[in-house]
Amino acid sequence: MSQAIMSTDQDTINPVQWRNNALELLDQRLLPGEETWLRLEDVEVTAGAITDMVVRGAPAIGVTAAYGVVLAARDRYSADPDTWKTAIQADLDTLNQARPTAVNLRWAVARMAKLMSGIDGDPVPVLLAEARRIHDEDIAACRHMGELGAAYIDADAGVLTHCNAGALATAGYGTALGVIRSAWSKGKALTVFADETRPWLQGARLTAWELLHDGIPVQLLADGAAAYLMQKGKVQWVVVGADRVAANGDVANKIGTYGLAVAARHHGVRFMVVAPTSTIDMQAASGAEIPIEQRDPDELFLAGGKRVAAEGAGAWNPVFDITPAALVDVLVTERGALDSPNAASIGNLMGI
Ligand code: MRU
Repeated sequence: MSQAIMSTDQDTINPVQWRNNALELLDQRLLPGEETWLRLEDVEVTAGAITDMVVRGAPAIGVTAAYGVVLAARDRYSADPDTWKTAIQADLDTLNQARPTAVNLRWAVARMAKLMSGIDGDPVPVLLAEARRIHDEDIAACRHMGELGAAYIDADAGVLTHCNAGALATAGYGTALGVIRSAWSKGKALTVFADETRPWLQGARLTAWELLHDGIPVQLLADGAAAYLMQKGKVQWVVVGADRVAANGDVANKIGTYGLAVAARHHGVRFMVVAPTSTIDMQAASGAEIPIEQRDPDELFLAGGKRVAAEGAGAWNPVFDITPAALVDVLVTERGALDSPNAASIGNLMGI
């Protein structure tokens, strides 16, 4: 077994850390050029880091928000131990509004908030323990999903992924990239392709960086090249993460995912979505109810900080899209994998 294969069983990238009484985030805006950690000591800065994409990826945003609640509680309690539970509501709102599509954010904030009514005295020990549980559970979920997903993929398959659904997008190991890591660690010599993922280039900057960090070779392609790659027969699986999965199995994920799913179905390529149950929103009956984030047109007008678009052009910049459940062959969660997921199988999985 090569050194590269052996190294992939490690969980070496952990982009969200609680260290010395504060939250530390690996600044993903600067990767792969610079590995800079930011130290965050209050909730406003934490919410800002989520909005500004210092940290991104649905599960990583959820874990960050959980620690954000700890920071908020510490400040509110020290300001007034009698009123902190009321005062903190504004901070929870701020966190919830930091980004709209990834439901893990609201899920984590709600899970932290649920504990508050039972807290007597200093809230930090109880809330910090819960944030750490959310953090640890996410890594465990990713590892288990990696195993489940890898079982579907043949040893010599070509696999195409989109955006970054890796260790950087989670507490560690990754969802889609967890499947690739797991397959690779079992000796499956996959050929991994990654869309560059315009306009933030999560594929070119982050997915390529973290796969190479673990010794997994990766080939980048322009987003527009994916259908041709499928037509050439070079890819058997598209494997992606999700920002929110509706109760009927519709999937919100990085813009371009829907196009991949349509092209995959046309070419007989299988389409796998890997997401923990914290990404499933049983309140959203279908994808039509999932809010889609629109970001600044400058993300399209500029490249590397320099204007490239013609002056005067307008822009449409939704950063997620909805893939209908009918185009999903497998939904992998930490509770099990569902073939052709639908409202009934998801309801069953979620115990509803
Ligand atoms: O805008 P981003 O970079 O936060 O978008 C991230 C994605 O779309 C990921 O695919 C998704 O969050 C799954 S991460 C395991």
